[in-house]
Amino acid sequence: MLLLLPLLFKVLLCHGASKVAPQVLGPRHSAAEEPLSFHVLQISSFANRSWTHTQGSGWLGELQTHGWDSVLGTIRFLKPWSQGNFSKEELKNIQAFLRLYIHSFPREVQAFANQFQFQYPFELQVSFGCLIHPGKASESFLNGAYQGSDFLSFQENSWKPSPGAGSRAQNVCKVLNHYKFIKEIIQSLLSDTCPRFLAGLLEAGKSELQRQVKPEAWVSKGPSPGPGRLLLMCHVSGFHPKPVWVMWMRGEQKQPGTQQGDVLPNADGTWYLQVTLDVAAGEAAGLSCRVKHSSLGGQDLIIHWDPIFPHSSNQNLFSAHVSHPAFPQESIPKTPGVQDISSAWHRSGGPKTDS
Ligand SMILES: *[C@@H]1O[C@H](CO)[C@@H](O)[C@H](O)[C@H]1NC(C)=O
Ligand SMILES: *[C@@H]1O[C@H](CO)[C@@H](O)[C@H](O)[C@H]1NC(C)=O
Repeated sequence: MLLLLPLLFKVLLCHGASKVAPQVLGPRHSAAEEPLSFHVLQISSFANRSWTHTQGSGWLGELQTHGWDSVLGTIRFLKPWSQGNFSKEELKNIQAFLRLYIHSFPREVQAFANQFQFQYPFELQVSFGCLIHPGKASESFLNGAYQGSDFLSFQENSWKPSPGAGSRAQNVCKVLNHYKFIKEIIQSLLSDTCPRFLAGLLEAGKSELQRQVKPEAWVSKGPSPGPGRLLLMCHVSGFHPKPVWVMWMRGEQKQPGTQQGDVLPNADGTWYLQVTLDVAAGEAAGLSCRVKHSSLGGQDLIIHWDPIFPHSSNQNLFSAHVSHPAFPQESIPKTPGVQDISSAWHRSGGPKTDS
């Protein structure tokens, strides 16, 4: 196996230890805050002895920044800043490396499928990348999965079977650990190339990554949870960055039954969140949905539930109504569509859901 290694090594070392970019990696950290990780993700499917397909992509936190064109064998730069601060030449070397890797990897795996007891059809995933902790050293990872389960990882310069992955993973790691070249290449990609690339990417993409976009919010009635009950839904959409706090309230009282969905991506890179509350129909009046977000400059968005016209939003009044923090809360008309005020927006460390 690994005839290709010396080749890879050559590609990398010829250009003074280079860079890597795209291909495989995946941090398991959900980047709830601004993305400080880059990973390449490789997904290889093996249908039978003769059919395989490999996809590659590059991710800055949860944002896809790179793709792999498997027809042309080229990196697709999905953002104007996806090249970070790497030179054209460096990127060309990385691309050549990836092309060789993506071509060779499936062949090597096919050749070893028997010995490794991989059973068709099977899928291998590799996630490879690094994280930057502000003010601290960077950290890197390489994890591999077989049939969707953790299989092995690369740690302290050697391949380690994942707990529970059994003798098959032990066997694979034993074989891989003989290839010193590969380990050196990986080590260099992980500890040098990746953090350098990530730092350059964060800098190049700064204006997009750090942009502040205000949410729109509206409320609606969901499917009835049962006789005499209402499902109040609060939709918050179009905000950036991702951290947000949304709660159903009665005045200043958080409603503990508030259920929060996942924060989902919109196609334009902003986020969407839906938050619901199951209440007795008679108790809906006087409830409101409150949104705190960094783009709101400390002024919470408050959408009041209107039992008569339960489809309120801040959309119309959003920019027209500029609240003043000194404006007494009581005098704000409790009508749909009001952006309310609150100076209570204190971020003591990220978004909170409730407590
Ligand atoms: C291998 O799998 C591919 C994709 O599923 C299929 O089209 C092809 O016929 C299979 N070939 C063999 C020899 O089984
Ligand atoms: C890119 O930026 C990073 C961080 O600022 C730096 O370490 C690196 O040397 C720069 N250039 C290249 C080609 O990596």
